[in-house]
Amino acid sequence: MQHGHTVAFKRLAIKSSERSVLIQVSISRAFHRILTFQLVLRRSYNHHASFVKIHRKPYEALQSRIASKPLAGKSVIVTGGSRGVGLFIVEGFVEAGATKIGLTGRDGARLQATTSKLTKAHPGVTFAPYAVDVVDEKGIKAMFSDFGVPDILVNNAGVFPDNGLFLDQDLEKWWNGIGTNVLGTANVTQKYLQAKGNAPGIVLNCSSMASVMRFPLKGWSGYTTSKLAQARIFEFLRFEHPETRFNTIHPGEIETNGFEVSGAPKHDDMTDGKLTGLFFAWAATEEAAWLKDRFLWAEWDINELAGRKEEILEKDLLLTTIDGFNKGF
Ligand SMILES: NC(=O)c1ccc[n+]([C@@H]2O[C@H](COP(=O)([O-])OP(=O)(O)OC[C@H]3O[C@@H](n4cnc5c(N)ncnc54)[C@H](OP(=O)(O)O)[C@@H]3O)[C@@H](O)[C@H]2O)c1
Repeated sequence: MQHGHTVAFKRLAIKSSERSVLIQVSISRAFHRILTFQLVLRRSYNHHASFVKIHRKPYEALQSRIASKPLAGKSVIVTGGSRGVGLFIVEGFVEAGATKIGLTGRDGARLQATTSKLTKAHPGVTFAPYAVDVVDEKGIKAMFSDFGVPDILVNNAGVFPDNGLFLDQDLEKWWNGIGTNVLGTANVTQKYLQAKGNAPGIVLNCSSMASVMRFPLKGWSGYTTSKLAQARIFEFLRFEHPETRFNTIHPGEIETNGFEVSGAPKHDDMTDGKLTGLFFAWAATEEAAWLKDRFLWAEWDINELAGRKEEILEKDLLLTTIDGFNKGF
């Protein structure tokens, strides 16, 4: 609840010239909105995400798969690996046996600090930091020539483009944020596909459930647009690159800088980022190959998911669609 107050106040601070009595009224309205949002969020989240059983923390089945080092000797690049969800993903790949990991971010000092910590903690793994913006074509091309072609690419770098209601947005900033998420992901993916040619490959894309769920959200127009656009890019790339496995993955709700910036209400059932990291690593294993090109939730139980394999493949589930119009023609 404390967080709800902060969010409401942050948004109102934009109009700080208004009288305090008005601010108070607005705060309580905004607070009510957030409370309602929280209730609806929990209800719809629990309902929709229960495609199979969900977990918020690492669980035995997933841990034991990763403990068997299914990605032994593999190489991976994780964009935005310098902190937050990306860092959990890097650690998940370490646990799964990857031995060469590239990580990116724009802030070179933070990236270097993270790389030093990782190197100290995991001396058997080579970590390669690249301080480069995901939208920088030359920089990303140079990263792949220096690193070589990784077995797995994780497009995780992303921002929350919104700063209030749509009518109040500075559209240039809004568009820039969408650009980081969409153009950045497209750029890194394109350079990876160009570098690897026809060889098999794996691209995991960190999207969000916000792209496909019906949250009564205000102030999220840019973020949800960009996250849905990412998913659609991969749903169409699969026809051009059948040799490559694409997955779009909702990572859960993890306490990070990005989560804080989004203003989404923090609650007592947040996802442990360690689970997210393990799931991303699992998604790159042979066992998960049958899920090629589909939209997944990092919280989904991997055994129950396997139990629905036939149905998922037969009905072509886990792709974006419009209710009542599944096949689109
Ligand atoms: N946290 C959640 O609950 C949650 C939920 C759903 C989806 N996600 C998704 O998870 C991903 C990571 O989010 P997060 O919560 O971990 O955010 P975060 O804590 O803000 O971390 C974002 C990471 O991306 C990097 N980054 C941002 N813009 C970049 C750019 N233009 N070029 C290169 N690197 C860039 C950041 O490094 P620099 O700032 O140094 O560039 C940082 O390493 C995002 O795609 C987000 O949409 C998160």
